[in-house]
Amino acid sequence: MNLQQLKKIAAFYGRFTLSFTQVGYLARRVFWPSFTPSFSGQHWLVTGGSGGLGREMVMTALRAGATVTAAARSADKLRALEADVKAAGLSGLDTECCDFTLTADTQRLVERLLAKGRRIDALMNNVGVLNDDLTITAEGREASFGSNILSHYQLTEALVAGGLLGRGSVVVNVTSGGGYNVPLMTSMLNVTDPARYNGTVAYGFHKRGQMVLNQHWRDTYGARGIDFYVMHPGWSDTAGVKRSLPRFRKILRPILRDERSGADTAIWLAGTRPKQPEQELVWFDRKVRSAHAYERTRTTKDTPATLVAFLQRELDKGPR
Ligand SMILES: NC(=O)c1ccc[n+]([C@@H]2O[C@H](COP(=O)([O-])OP(=O)(O)OC[C@H]3O[C@@H](n4cnc5c(N)ncnc54)[C@H](OP(=O)(O)O)[C@@H]3O)[C@@H](O)[C@H]2O)c1
Repeated sequence: MNLQQLKKIAAFYGRFTLSFTQVGYLARRVFWPSFTPSFSGQHWLVTGGSGGLGREMVMTALRAGATVTAAARSADKLRALEADVKAAGLSGLDTECCDFTLTADTQRLVERLLAKGRRIDALMNNVGVLNDDLTITAEGREASFGSNILSHYQLTEALVAGGLLGRGSVVVNVTSGGGYNVPLMTSMLNVTDPARYNGTVAYGFHKRGQMVLNQHWRDTYGARGIDFYVMHPGWSDTAGVKRSLPRFRKILRPILRDERSGADTAIWLAGTRPKQPEQELVWFDRKVRSAHAYERTRTTKDTPATLVAFLQRELDKGPR
């Protein structure tokens, strides 16, 4: 790592540590009007719903009266979630096994959902990972590209086209403050060359891509009465953080958010559907904020259109 990179990292942590941790959440919460979620009669789909923030969204939505489909990879974890839901005296959970790194698996999930035909009132595009090592899927793609953005695009487009997402539905995309560090660059979304791969950098580009994709969806589907939001959860102590960022977690653990604080804004957005200006913006702690923390990330040769074309080309290639 060179001095320039060190300076950027120091500036990032210096600027955001208090804000993104539980400290920022607790300080801001004092000023919020009361909000009691009520999702009675709604059907939610939460990707990555068996752990971390996704699990929190599932439990909160169930407690607030929704029926919820939780989609995640491990059948064991989904079974554990079912047991927890039962133990908590809740009902209305459906689970779906799906590996979102694979377009074929995501397609099978879409087909099952379409066959069931249940309208989706809230889609939480939550699944996302930061991988340390390069993993190439059986379909020949970098794994986190699949889970972090390609599957979100595939799932959302298919559910809109299939009519399960429609007027009155809401889609909440869960990005990360890591996206603040980079501009939109489609050439960095699916890096399969080990010499060029850096998991943290890849994650940042996926998360920036989600911010841009959200605005594309707002522009494209807003007139159909579907609400789209993108939010970032700050820094929460989840299994994902434990696995991917052990040193970060060791240092910040006492002040990391709990899962409830991390998922709060996603739940609040689904419950309140606030208006927002039509530009690339990000919600964090119940407030809409600039999608650019640094001027340098505004400059890019890519556009929302080139991003969508890139993702669509990947889908058109098929599972391979
Ligand atoms: N925690 C934070 O501080 C933080 C900060 C910024 C942004 N975020 C974002 O918030 C979201 C949730 O993060 P988290 O920390 O809650 O993650 P987490 O603790 O790692 O939980 C991830 C969930 O996603 C599932 N999952 C992972 N890969 C999958 C795949 N390929 N296919 C299907 N399911 C998969 C996991 O189930 P399996 O184990 O079965 O795969 C689990 O249910 C992510 O988009 C992340 O980027 C989190």
